[in-house]
Amino acid sequence: MPKTIIEPFKIKSVEPIFMSTPEERERYIKEAHYNPFLLHSRHVIIDLLTDSGTSAMSSEQWAGIMRGDESYAGASSWEIFYDEVRDLTGFEYVLPTHQGRAAERILYGQLGGQGKVFLSNTHFDTTRANIEFGGAAAIDIPTHLAADHDSDYHFKGDIDLRRLEEEIAKHGAENIAAVVLTVTNNSGGGQPVSMENARLTADICRRNNILFILDCCRIAENAWFIREYEKGFEGRSYREIAQEMFRLADGCIMSAKKDALVNMGGFLALRDAKIAEACTNLLIITEGFVTYGGLSGRDMEAIAQGLREVFDTDYLNYRIVSTRYLGEHIRAKGIPVLYPIGGHAVYVDASLLYPHIPVNQYPGQVLVCELYKRGGIRAVEIGSVMFGKYDEAGNLIPAASELVRLAIPRRVYTQSHIDYVIEVFDEIKDAANETKGLRIVKETPFLRHFTAHFEVAATAAAAA
Ligand code: F0G
Repeated sequence: MPKTIIEPFKIKSVEPIFMSTPEERERYIKEAHYNPFLLHSRHVIIDLLTDSGTSAMSSEQWAGIMRGDESYAGASSWEIFYDEVRDLTGFEYVLPTHQGRAAERILYGQLGGQGKVFLSNTHFDTTRANIEFGGAAAIDIPTHLAADHDSDYHFKGDIDLRRLEEEIAKHGAENIAAVVLTVTNNSGGGQPVSMENARLTADICRRNNILFILDCCRIAENAWFIREYEKGFEGRSYREIAQEMFRLADGCIMSAKKDALVNMGGFLALRDAKIAEACTNLLIITEGFVTYGGLSGRDMEAIAQGLREVFDTDYLNYRIVSTRYLGEHIRAKGIPVLYPIGGHAVYVDASLLYPHIPVNQYPGQVLVCELYKRGGIRAVEIGSVMFGKYDEAGNLIPAASELVRLAIPRRVYTQSHIDYVIEVFDEIKDAANETKGLRIVKETPFLRHFTAHFEVAATAAAAA
């Protein structure tokens, strides 16, 4: 049997890529003030900005789009969506929302508020923002094993169970609004969470009468790692593994823009009737009536079909192996990456690639500009541009690390696209020593990474 893992799909509809020259890209990135968020997407050759909402849909999903029943109440598309989510998650109450953060606003707005605390392996940005907006605190307690970026421990997405018990004792169980397990742990490097960790988390929550929520937008990818690396899961289907994890929890929030293989959508699903009722009231006020919420009938059809397709063995195998292919190949070239490679993205440590560039000249932003200039590749900085703050004297308080995320859209790029990205890293590495830093010339007080303007720094600034 041939060993090559191929894309397990054929291409029915294509979108041309405009092949810009390095000279053109030099101009485009300058016009975008060295911030790839400000580029026109038509000027990007390979877009690895996010894996969210960027999937290619299947012919069956497009067929569902045509079948969509757009009735205001009781649509057949709602029934198809409800049955699929109910069967997968086991949760009786399902609330459709326009994307993940709308589900977060509803649930965490309901559970949170002043004096409440949420505990998580790592809260995603929008999760944290929705919790903090309501006045509650969001505390990240990832496993200490995640701190070593080079070890080959397979479940660096785990929550730290000892700290979980400590934080519950410190704040009082009655003040913990929920424990949120993000699978896979996106902000923690796309690393998976083991079933054992989820089971022990569930035990602690049950003993303390605390709500246990899964942020499950990449749970199919997480299931791949459990079957591959955790004892006792050989021969189980990926869907069964996900179902086992759902059984441990009291509810879930899903951004369908990831593992449901659609361009827009999400949901909240719950076991408890009382919480569901309170959330349903908010759903009707802010999203829509119970049988569509934030979605059209056609969206619900596409999500239901995507949730079936994502657990396909050949699809998931191709998905994780192709992400790993990128990570392993650039690592072999000496590019410092978070290891092992996670499910949806490869994370490069730009501070190790550019040790001569101080944090206040943003090595991660430098790398995203280099990727664009040299290859037309768009990636995102996850470092001091995104998370840096200033002290009272105006000095930068840097982020914990200077990472760049190369997120792989699902079913969009082929192996030759990925080989091209790997080749671009050769040039980046060769030029690393002479690559100059950037300085910020314009920024906003919140979420500055989306709109900040940069200039090439003339000389090295004093490290902050
Ligand atoms: N939870 C996780 C773990 C996420 O990664 C995201 C989105 C959300 C919640 C919010 O969902 O975008 O549908 O409102 N992550 C995207 C990303 C934006 O690029 O990683 P949403």
